[in-house]
Amino acid sequence: MTTIMISKNMYFTAVLITVLSTLNLSCTVALASSPDPPQWTVRDDNNKICMLMAMNATIQYGREILIPSSATASRQTGSCDSKMALFTLEWPSEDGYTYKMTTAFKAEGNSYKMVEVNGTASRGFSFSSWSDKDSSFPSASIGNSMTCQLFDSGTVYFTEYKFQPFAQLSKEQYGKAEACSFGSGLWVYVVFVAIVIIAIAVVAAIVLVIVKVVKSKRRYSVMQ
Ligand SMILES: *[C@@H]1O[C@H](CO)[C@@H](O)[C@H](O)[C@H]1NC(C)=O
Ligand SMILES: *[C@@H]1O[C@H](CO)[C@@H](O)[C@H](O)[C@H]1NC(C)=O
Repeated sequence: MTTIMISKNMYFTAVLITVLSTLNLSCTVALASSPDPPQWTVRDDNNKICMLMAMNATIQYGREILIPSSATASRQTGSCDSKMALFTLEWPSEDGYTYKMTTAFKAEGNSYKMVEVNGTASRGFSFSSWSDKDSSFPSASIGNSMTCQLFDSGTVYFTEYKFQPFAQLSKEQYGKAEACSFGSGLWVYVVFVAIVIIAIAVVAAIVLVIVKVVKSKRRYSVMQ
């Protein structure tokens, strides 16, 4: 009898330890945040902020080109328009190329949309360009910022981004963040599944403990 009780207790302890360590692991995963991605600020002719852009991204163009935080945000005519925002980064790379990348946003009615991501690579007389366009690119309400993790535009792989084009319409600051439906959706899904598994394990452990207590009480009364 006593031996059986001990082994049962050990079983409950094992379940409890598993549940607790799963809980601890998922908390650690959820809280582990990478350093803030590089950020750029673009101002219009009146020195007002028209774009607040943060991203960590690589261009898959022949090879993987990490967009460095040292890239400069340049402003050409039309960059800070109220209907179209063009965010252009330019940087020289170690291999002698000069890279340029533009992310274009179009405002329509109460919302705006990422419409195109394109770029060029030039070295001496050699020049090449690429362009990604897709009607399913992310969109957000005017005044809000858009944020996403693991967004792939085709050529550019954004590990993370937070964009506030048309910042002149959001008091020159990041508005409420609207998460995209792909990257962060997947992330939320993973966390959700982990929470469900933990919840099931906890409920199962509680039920087992209750059953055990009830059984031992019965056993006690029978013995009396
Ligand atoms: C950017 O993403 C790469 C992986 O793609 C990661 O190694 C790096 O730490 C990230 N940098 C920042 C500043 O988030
Ligand atoms: C990039 O996209 C913008 C906006 O659609 C366009 O004005 C520009 O000409 C494009 N540049 C290249 C190199 O394709």
